[in-house]
Amino acid sequence: MPFAGLASPLAGKPMAGPLRVGLVGCGGRGTGAAMQALNADKEVILWSVGDLFADRLESSLSGLKENFGDRVQIPEERRFVGFDAYKKVIEQVDVILFATPPAFRPMHLAAAIEADLHVFCEKPIAVDAHGVRSVLATAKLAQEKGLSLASGFCWRAANGHRAIYNKVHQGGIGDVRHVYGTYLGGGLWYKKRQENWTDMEYQLRNWLYYTAISGDHIAEQAVHSVDKIMWAKNDVPPVSCTAIGGREVRTEEKWGNIYDHFGVMYEWADGSMGHLQCRQQNGAHSENLDRILGSNGVAYVDGWAGKFIIKGDTPWQYDGPGNNMYQTEHDELFASIRSGGAMNQGQDMAHSTLAALMGRMSAYTGQRITWEQALNSEERLTPDKWEFGPGLPAPISKPGQTKFL
Ligand SMILES: NC(=O)c1ccc[n+]([C@@H]2O[C@H](COP(=O)([O-])OP(=O)(O)OC[C@H]3O[C@@H](n4cnc5c(N)ncnc54)[C@H](O)[C@@H]3O)[C@@H](O)[C@H]2O)c1
Repeated sequence: MPFAGLASPLAGKPMAGPLRVGLVGCGGRGTGAAMQALNADKEVILWSVGDLFADRLESSLSGLKENFGDRVQIPEERRFVGFDAYKKVIEQVDVILFATPPAFRPMHLAAAIEADLHVFCEKPIAVDAHGVRSVLATAKLAQEKGLSLASGFCWRAANGHRAIYNKVHQGGIGDVRHVYGTYLGGGLWYKKRQENWTDMEYQLRNWLYYTAISGDHIAEQAVHSVDKIMWAKNDVPPVSCTAIGGREVRTEEKWGNIYDHFGVMYEWADGSMGHLQCRQQNGAHSENLDRILGSNGVAYVDGWAGKFIIKGDTPWQYDGPGNNMYQTEHDELFASIRSGGAMNQGQDMAHSTLAALMGRMSAYTGQRITWEQALNSEERLTPDKWEFGPGLPAPISKPGQTKFL
């Protein structure tokens, strides 16, 4: 497997017959993930759903019912709303899909693995190192229990990507010296404030723009590119990084406290480097590319255009079929649940998330940050108890002034 993660010493029990699946976080991605789970295995039944908001839950459910009919069996008593919805969905199902904003992931994941569920969870898996450490511990527990834990780092499931990263790992460009990843795009959606919303509801409806809920766009979106840098480096963590970033066009209060651009230079113990550029600025050049520079060639990975090319001593080009990577993720997860094979991507998804967070920490503080510092960071962005009322603190970080915690 190209994304093997932890090997599971205890095989899980093979599962036959109907599988009751739950979805927590019924937004765009969660609804998509539920469809992919239903398509992955004929005996999957969508059995329970949870969301913070009833309106999001109902609109997702009506679309799913329209497409899958009786395989979506969710009477009122198995629909749950609010901050505790995840606990109630967990009680109802065998497999759970998590697609809430990332701030909730560590808490949700821990509860699901504690309750012996197989899990699919979207990236990123945390917004701070406190959450990453929790997910690393949860991933270990899943391994001990023989439970499957699959991540939403979807490019790892794309055929062209698998082929070219495989070539790179087999020495197709010699030693990997430098990886350059870009995620350059425009701004995203915004929800206008309603009169009856508390500050917390407003932030949660517009979660992308609050570092405490999304992790900032380097973690929420560009983490895909960070993940591919990590993939090129065989998931060996970098030793340190130095980053810059800021908000040039995202200056209004409605954009919360996240930045609109980052540039990060990662360094590995073997002297190789990785460079990430990401931005969300309308009207600027768009690009989502990875260029892997080796001692004997360069690999070009263009996921959006579906082009995978190696230039150098041994030229190569991928000309195999494309695939729906989101579907493949679920096909492989459900195959592992059926066989008892227990796929576990927990450690790698936690490390890719931490590499993105380390870039944010460096950009926010203006300091060089080591992997060890990032992993042991005491910054805690999420509250002990989530409730509607006052919003979360949303300071705008200033490099050179903001302290590393
Ligand atoms: N792999 C990918 O390509 C990909 C693509 C898009 C999004 N994502 C990830 O998926 C996740 C969701 O993104 P989205 O675009 O679907 O966002 P979204 O805003 O459309 O959906 C999030 C849903 O979660 C709900 N929610 C918020 N807090 C909750 C809580 N505590 N408990 C239950 N429900 C809660 C919201 O009400 C909303 O319905 C994010 O982590 C995002 O980064 C991944």
